[in-house]
Amino acid sequence: MKTAVTELFGIKYPIVQGGMHHVGLAELASAVSNAGGLGIITGLTQRTPELLAKEIARCRDMTDKPFGVNLTFLPTFSAPPYPEYISAIVEGGIKVVETAGRSPEQYMPVLKAAGIKVIHKCTSIKHALKAERIGCDVISVDGFECGGHPGEDDVPNMILLPRAAEELTVPFIASGGMADGRSLVAALALGASGINMGTRFIATQEAPVHVNVKKALVAATELDTRIIMRALRNTERVLNNSAVERLGAIEREKGSSLKIEDILSEVAGVYPKVMRDGAVEAGAWSCGMVVGLINDIPTVGELVDRIVREAEQIIRQRLVGCFDGTGLGKVA
Ligand SMILES: Cc1cc2nc3c(=O)[nH]c(=O)nc-3n(C[C@H](O)[C@H](O)[C@H](O)COP(=O)(O)O)c2cc1C
Repeated sequence: MKTAVTELFGIKYPIVQGGMHHVGLAELASAVSNAGGLGIITGLTQRTPELLAKEIARCRDMTDKPFGVNLTFLPTFSAPPYPEYISAIVEGGIKVVETAGRSPEQYMPVLKAAGIKVIHKCTSIKHALKAERIGCDVISVDGFECGGHPGEDDVPNMILLPRAAEELTVPFIASGGMADGRSLVAALALGASGINMGTRFIATQEAPVHVNVKKALVAATELDTRIIMRALRNTERVLNNSAVERLGAIEREKGSSLKIEDILSEVAGVYPKVMRDGAVEAGAWSCGMVVGLINDIPTVGELVDRIVREAEQIIRQRLVGCFDGTGLGKVA
């Protein structure tokens, strides 16, 4: 396949794996890159810049294809040492960085000087335009259905993607709700140059997480995610479980006076317990509505090949058939 994104990143298919805390380790990033997509190591999952340097080296041993690093700017008081993380990225020879959380503006000069392409994840057109203005190369447009932080505007991708196509001049990828060949075709049709997947990549053989997590995703339906932390303006879409039910009850009780301290036991330190130990009820963890489309645990290679084959079939048969009459039997 050839799109603006395959050409920019030097990859075979326009399929990116978004950064995921305690999931985006070298095993998954290298598997995605080896399958022809762009794998991404999650920077802050590595507790220090030195550990990130090691993780980059480990990934380099597992693939000779391009891969990137996610740098999430967290709303915390004691910020991680971002300049040192960026040094590890630059010295590790990384050529693509996915940024998220806040604007990467202050770090753009050093990233650009190192020849790094920046994908910035945005949940609104306003932020996407700002990202374009400060020199980001690609925008990852995260719709309301996405796993993780969908922002505060609640605009789903059926609207957000064509709006991005109307406003942006740089290429963008569709993020949130992407799972299969249908998603890829829809994303391309709405103006995107590729897709970014989070939740779907967790339910793969190579994702370095406990099997309980993968099984929980296969068992869940599109009705099983919840929105939390809205009152804190740190909205997150998570998989429902007993901790999330508890959290929801606290949120209803506290209303707009909710403080992060009220829900710390449901949200702090959850990821290692869930992803490494398989304690899927330990707290709230990100998951997209797309979980309703996940029914198996293939290898990353099988998944990527399936997406591309399905997309090609939809375009060449179903869509072309709508116009030349040959697709009539396949029209839903
Ligand atoms: C378990 C999980 C952890 C995530 N952690 C991060 C993160 O640390 N940084 C980040 O920028 N995005 C994070 N995301 C968001 C993903 O990169 C991606 O934007 C999102 O999953 C896309 O929506 P989808 O799940 O519908 O594919 C996470 C998503 C999930 C499901």
